[in-house]
Amino acid sequence: HPKGGSVINPRELLGQDLKLLTDNIRRLLGSGHPVLTTISNYYFHAGGKHVRPLIVLLIAQATSIAPKLGGAGQENVNNLPVDQPTIPSREITFGAHVESRNTYTAPAADLSILPTQRRLAEITEMIHTASLLHDDVIDLAMTRRAQSSANAEFGNKMAILAGDFLLARASVALARLRNVEVVELLATVISNLVEGEFMQLRNSALNEEKGWLYHAKGMLKASDNDTLNGKFQYYIEKTYLKTASLIAKSCQAAAVLGGCRPEIVDAAYSYGKNLGLAFQLVDDMLDFTVSADEFGKPVNADLKLGLATAPVLYAAEQFEDLHPLIERNFGNEGDVEKALSLVLQSDGLSRTRALAESYCQQAIEAISALPPSNAQTALIQLTEAVLTRKK
Ligand code: FPP
Ligand code: FPP
Ligand code: MG
Ligand code: MG
Repeated sequence: HPKGGSVINPRELLGQDLKLLTDNIRRLLGSGHPVLTTISNYYFHAGGKHVRPLIVLLIAQATSIAPKLGGAGQENVNNLPVDQPTIPSREITFGAHVESRNTYTAPAADLSILPTQRRLAEITEMIHTASLLHDDVIDLAMTRRAQSSANAEFGNKMAILAGDFLLARASVALARLRNVEVVELLATVISNLVEGEFMQLRNSALNEEKGWLYHAKGMLKASDNDTLNGKFQYYIEKTYLKTASLIAKSCQAAAVLGGCRPEIVDAAYSYGKNLGLAFQLVDDMLDFTVSADEFGKPVNADLKLGLATAPVLYAAEQFEDLHPLIERNFGNEGDVEKALSLVLQSDGLSRTRALAESYCQQAIEAISALPPSNAQTALIQLTEAVLTRKK
């Protein structure tokens, strides 16, 4: 827990750096097609909490005073003018629209945060948003961030393409960081997101997936899904891939861009990984306990999608009646209601919370390897916010 007892508001700590985020992303998303730009910008307009870029920027601040690599390898990452025009005099014209390639200079509000690290924070949020655009199509979600989802508003095809576009522009910005290690990290994140989503699809009850399931059955390890333990391991691995990998590797990349020594890079990764796992466990818990109005997105969504998350898997240790429901992905009439009621009677929710707490503890231990700073305190206090959030 934070020393000294004072609560640090991370958004105040970052001030200008966070305010610039949305504007900068909007610039990165200019395209030749106004509708494409509108859709790709759609989720940036309201409601996003920008927690991932916030964490990346805090890691940048917190690691700025940590031990750095000496000599070769440092200068090339630190002094890259990402905010300078890459091609100063040439602009690419698509019809009436002019795409100016980075021809702006984002004011550096905090000099301990490097321009490359600010750009990384933007890339992280773009990848996150791209995954939400695709996720809402896959999950048939009609609301997101308390408004109608992009797929509800523009249709599935446009929503998918907008997500692809966001990923593509994030990749361009990533390449411009001129750091192959960071490119590899973030490219791996994108494949991890897809892998995590795939692991989840396998368990989903959506009809159109049944054909795929039939073909996949012989190829999957039987052990994964045979026992409750196996199911739980599978669930945690899926959770790492779909949620924790993005924040873990983004934290790691921020430390790499800062030229930090390997033990600091590892600490940043471990912080992000454990915080991310805790975050998703709490998310899966809130899916049972919060109303849709509060949550800003559908509730009991996981059961309805046929997914057994931590609260159900724990509850199944207490109530054998849940096993057949899990096996058939809550597919029969009344299954969702029955599962819901058994979970609420069980200690599944409190055990899920306890697991999230233990991940938070590991995140705190990891970040304690850094020298003390306000940013470090804010990162420690964020673990508390993960556990107490209501939406
Ligand atoms: C939200 O989970 C979704 C994710 C964390 C990842 C989704 C990943 C994909 C759709 C793969 C494609 C990836 C990219 C980068 C385009 P959720 O559905 O549990 O949460 P929610 O309640 O917020 O919808
Ligand atoms: C994520 O939003 C953020 C919150 C609900 C705030 C509290 C969470 C943390 C302090 C830790 C965050 C950890 C990770 C892994 C991000 P969201 O995923 O619902 O997406 P959105 O805000 O972009 O809609
Ligand atoms: Mg979803
Ligand atoms: Mg989903």
